[in-house]
Amino acid sequence: MATLAESEMTFAHLPHPAPLAADARAAVLADPGFGKVFSDHMVSIDWDEERGWHNASVIPYGPIPINPAAAVLHYAQEIFEGLKAYRLADGGIALFRPEANAARFNASARRLAMPELPEALFVQAVKEMVLADKDWFPTVEGGSLYLRPFMFASEAFLGVRPSKQYKFLVIASPAGNYFKSGAPAVSIWVSDFTRAAPGGTGAAKCGGNYAASLVPTAEAFERGHDQVLFLDAVERKWVEELGGMNLFFVFDDGSILTPELTGTILPGITRESLIRLAQEEGLTVREGRYSLDQWKADAASGRLVETFACGTAAVVTPVGRVSGHDGAFTIGSGGPGQLTQKLRQKLVAIQRGDAPDTHGWVKRIA
Ligand code: PLP
Ligand code: COI
Repeated sequence: MATLAESEMTFAHLPHPAPLAADARAAVLADPGFGKVFSDHMVSIDWDEERGWHNASVIPYGPIPINPAAAVLHYAQEIFEGLKAYRLADGGIALFRPEANAARFNASARRLAMPELPEALFVQAVKEMVLADKDWFPTVEGGSLYLRPFMFASEAFLGVRPSKQYKFLVIASPAGNYFKSGAPAVSIWVSDFTRAAPGGTGAAKCGGNYAASLVPTAEAFERGHDQVLFLDAVERKWVEELGGMNLFFVFDDGSILTPELTGTILPGITRESLIRLAQEEGLTVREGRYSLDQWKADAASGRLVETFACGTAAVVTPVGRVSGHDGAFTIGSGGPGQLTQKLRQKLVAIQRGDAPDTHGWVKRIA
């Protein structure tokens, strides 16, 4: 386990005058759900052209003043990240690959014409957030503290050009399972809408991508499915990713396949971690194209034995059934597959410090 390099910035601390009462917090932590409740504090850092990054502080969680002309409210200049802090068996606290989130945040910043945040400062900000609210870890099995760093254009100006002022915030939310259905495997809906076109922002984690996914997601929910699946925007045949997760396919020869990063898919950190873990298991991992038709045919012939989705929020979640306007098909028995469960267990054990961290992925912060 590695320790963190400190950034140069000193954070001001303004403790919450009236944090949530311990018994109310305990009730939340016993059954947190996902993304519904936020901890007592948040981190805030400002950027402008003269001062660069400044005003780093840990302040009470709460509404922030925003100018009605702020560019983000008009042109959606906003990016975000998602990562988790875990309580370790010895009572310590660890982050999983925060530098990878910092690097992806800056890749998103470049695509959205926003200033980059030094990686050490991103990690320091996340650490400050967790240490301020270290009593906010869920007590429920499999729980973690979900962290949401984000940045938005705060300049009041209606001309269409990159903003000259930004705000970076980190908020924290105790998290249990992402999917509330509790089903052993999720059901997905193949959308006729597309998420990202070549040359667009698909590889960036910007709010606009998610705005575009909301009608298809609502359609999936209305039809009784848990997630939406997007095909490529050009040929409308290649499987890309889900609304908030990457996908893996497991074949009967033991090999696995995940859609290649073409610029229209988010480069998931869970995806990359699982590729490494699968390779270390001796599996052949391919990054390539896979069509919906082939997936359906392989599920019918038995060549495809498992499919799973992965992401920070969803961890590793089996996909049991796929439906679209052209019909539906079931994968394997429709329940969780063996390799899916094995990879999930391996990843979770590393994240929680229960298995050796041979990759330097786990950053102890307390
Ligand atoms: N794809 C999309 C669209 C996502 O929103 C996410 C979640 O962050 C992922 C994939 C998985 O990425 P990660 O494993 O880094 O959480
Ligand atoms: C995450 O997994 O962290 C995400 O940002 C996905 C989101 C749909 C919750």
